[in-house]
Amino acid sequence: MCGIFAYIGHEKAALECIKGLKKLEYRGYDSAGMAGFHEGALRFVKAAGKLHRLEEKLAESAHNFSSAISHTRWATHGKPTENNAHPHFDEQQHVAVVHNGIIENHVALRHEMVQQGINFSSETDTEVIAQLMGLSPTGHIVEKVSYVLGRLRGSMAVALLHKDYPDTLIAFSRECPLIVALDPITGQAMIASDSNALPSMDLDITYLGQDEIALIKKGEVLFFDKAGKPLHKKQERLGHDMHLVSKQGFDHFMLKEIFEQPDTIRAAFMGRLNEESATVEFEGLNLTPADFLNVKRVLILGCGTSYHAGCIAARLLEEYARVPAQPAIASEFRYQNPIISPDTLVIAISQSGETADTVAAVREAKAKGATILAICNIKGSLLTREADSTIYLKAGPEISVCSTKAFTSQLTVLALFGLYMARLRHVGRDEGKRFIQELYQLPQLVMSVLEKAPLLQELAVKYSRYNHFFYLGRQAMFYTALEGALKLKELSYIEASGYPAGEMKHGPIALLDEDLPVIAFACNRQTQDKLLSNLQECKARGAPLIVFAFEGDTDSTSLATDIFHIPSTSDALAAIPVSVASQLFAYYTALARGTDIDQPRNLAKSVTVE
Ligand code: F6R
Repeated sequence: MCGIFAYIGHEKAALECIKGLKKLEYRGYDSAGMAGFHEGALRFVKAAGKLHRLEEKLAESAHNFSSAISHTRWATHGKPTENNAHPHFDEQQHVAVVHNGIIENHVALRHEMVQQGINFSSETDTEVIAQLMGLSPTGHIVEKVSYVLGRLRGSMAVALLHKDYPDTLIAFSRECPLIVALDPITGQAMIASDSNALPSMDLDITYLGQDEIALIKKGEVLFFDKAGKPLHKKQERLGHDMHLVSKQGFDHFMLKEIFEQPDTIRAAFMGRLNEESATVEFEGLNLTPADFLNVKRVLILGCGTSYHAGCIAARLLEEYARVPAQPAIASEFRYQNPIISPDTLVIAISQSGETADTVAAVREAKAKGATILAICNIKGSLLTREADSTIYLKAGPEISVCSTKAFTSQLTVLALFGLYMARLRHVGRDEGKRFIQELYQLPQLVMSVLEKAPLLQELAVKYSRYNHFFYLGRQAMFYTALEGALKLKELSYIEASGYPAGEMKHGPIALLDEDLPVIAFACNRQTQDKLLSNLQECKARGAPLIVFAFEGDTDSTSLATDIFHIPSTSDALAAIPVSVASQLFAYYTALARGTDIDQPRNLAKSVTVE
């Protein structure tokens, strides 16, 4: 959470920073700010609210920064006011700091400095970094940063400017991503929270590691460890065509990403299916078939939407590969002293690869000897560096805060993994081939759902006045219901609960009346009859029933107040087309209610705090 962008190279540093921040705004949008050197003096501009507020204030200020650091904030400590917006300064205003992460010992540090007579001007944890820099012993800037790093506990990606080093951007990080990029031709250099924020040019990029420090000048980057010893770090080339991000004519990134799903699902399986041997070949896996054969138990970790993908995958793994598999919410798992044996495989799912709880849960599992397989979208992210091996989603950048295409890519990759594990064990070639044929159908199935988007818009408009919804399903459709409810909540701020349909009668049915619509996902053949009985019970209480059912399901059609048909597929894969339909329903509901679709209130794309 929070986005950092810093630039040194030519006189238009402010403009470059704004361009970078625009691509990072998904990480937080409570306030934004920038500091830079204008005619040799350190100056700043800050604004509460979204980035355009900062742009307006910058235009008024007429600062011409030669180098600048900038920040878009997701508030953790202190309200989203202008005063709490980054950059923060030391008392003398010699140092400007932008920060992503949480300083765990900020209260003690603040208390200590207040005792020394230092005045603080914000409520943030970040300000202690700036004040500590101001108090750090004299010496070279690397020594000052080493001193500060040694005093801080918690997680941090920091970019700073110091008045004595106007030609240098200074950066350090611990447990939070920070990328240093250098254009080898022009010498322009940048710091960014993620590579999507970098301009479309060939760049040499380096990920800052644990407690590493970087000094960045035009045409030169130097790295140091926390003791101030020079480091030689490996650079990677980021091609100019690797980070293009635009809405491509869609009204919102979310809608564009929903409509990308036939392609992203195809990308998740293309080149990985071996039809001849009816199995899967994942590129670049560091684990061997023997490693996977030795697995006796699978634990699947994730948060939010990624956790829902894990729930669906756990069912598939147990059913098809006959391996005991359990999903776990990463933020809970990390504190429960989990029982892990050497034959436990931990699958960690994360679109961003940055989610603090998922990374911490992985570290806990690793410490207990588990093998870690990451399922991730972002190359080189923190999670992929912690894991023993990674399978990439290949979904391309997901900019909308609300996750859509990453979810269906996760489901696709996990279905491939299920097939791989099943074929290693008892599933025969013919059954494997049938599964592969079903996988090949997915892009077309999703396409047929997308073609019916206008019907979903009609439904969404019809029901957009309701303030509460129940999402019901059984088996995989229950987890799909959890995901559907999450999408509706986060986008339209409507209260929505996902529930196993059979559990309604044990309490929640008391809530039902004509003001509480029920959305039922009836795409699990194994439990279809039972679901229909549960829906009868809902209907008898007067609740409007919106049913998503397979084409040709006349029972659901006759029961439903409104029906949406999903093209037929197996129970194992039905979550994919049903989720695409429910994403569209949530999108159009939010559109009808006029909420901020790509950047819902209080949220951020990468949740890098616990
Ligand atoms: C919901 C959503 C979140 C994320 C969650 C985990 O639409 O996007 O629930 O799924 O914050 O994020 P990742 O997958 O990046 O670990």
